[in-house]
Amino acid sequence: MLADLSGKTALVTGGGQGIGRGIALKLAEQGADVAIADINDEGAGAVAGEIEALGRKSFSVHLDVTDPDSVGPAVAEVIEGFGHLDILVNNAGIGRVAGKAGGGLEDDWEENWATVMDINVQGVMRCTKAVLGHFIERKYGKIVNTSSGAGRGPILWGPPGGAGFGSPYGPSKAAVINYTQYLASSLGPHNINVNAICPGRVWSDFHVTAIAEKQRKDPSLAEKAPQEIFDQNVADMIPLGRGQTPEEIGNLVAFLVSDDASSITGQSIHIDGGQRMV
Ligand SMILES: NC(=O)c1ccc[n+]([C@@H]2O[C@H](COP(=O)([O-])OP(=O)(O)OC[C@H]3O[C@@H](n4cnc5c(N)ncnc54)[C@H](O)[C@@H]3O)[C@@H](O)[C@H]2O)c1
Repeated sequence: MLADLSGKTALVTGGGQGIGRGIALKLAEQGADVAIADINDEGAGAVAGEIEALGRKSFSVHLDVTDPDSVGPAVAEVIEGFGHLDILVNNAGIGRVAGKAGGGLEDDWEENWATVMDINVQGVMRCTKAVLGHFIERKYGKIVNTSSGAGRGPILWGPPGGAGFGSPYGPSKAAVINYTQYLASSLGPHNINVNAICPGRVWSDFHVTAIAEKQRKDPSLAEKAPQEIFDQNVADMIPLGRGQTPEEIGNLVAFLVSDDASSITGQSIHIDGGQRMV
């Protein structure tokens, strides 16, 4: 079996829904025991239940990636619960703070920058630091950070000037790519692999929030169902003509955290139907 994760244990942040749920379920299907860490306690508990139904061990922990006082104890609880930890997936993230019509430079407001950077960038740093002592002591560890195609440059959505996922989301995900490279170079000597994934478009609450803001800004979109707007955009922008699924994202992560990928580190891999070809 490719990506055999038997005997491995994993922690997935933001695993209570969306892409994180897809990653967590795939790791469990491949044999890992998986803890679900999220501020969405209900979702995290439900995903843990789904994993147990697959015959793997699982439990949920309340973990807020913006709060060092939450991250440390939650990670310690997971390590104690499983006895050891092999895999960290830093997946928790947001596109923008809801509440103002967004798109292009209109997304450059102070709270939006502060919150997006705190969750998407410092959140990755906090959770990584919390597992590092354990990984280094065991001379083994796999870290995958969820970046985005937006981390390579703005993703246009609509006419020029209307960058769909421009700022501060793009800068936050660019930082994730750069930090991934820094971690990979620092941690290689400890036999710790660190990679990033760059999903294209996966239908999730992430897009529900983003599209709601677009609809508030553009009256011509107001009557359309959010998923219809998403599907049209995906058909226009992605060579394969469709969005990606959480399961597909999980397939890539399962490979990257497996020993089949033991020579791969410091990479940022696009999984986006051909949206970005760099
Ligand atoms: N959906 C896409 O098309 C897409 C594309 C590229 C990258 N991404 C990235 O994938 C990741 C998952 O996104 P998604 O589409 O599943 O969105 P989502 O909104 O469905 O899920 C995000 C998860 O992160 C959790 N979360 C948010 N803030 C948190 C915090 N402070 N502490 C802990 N957990 C927190 C949420 O509760 C939720 O469970 C994000 O990092 C996002 O930037 C998404």
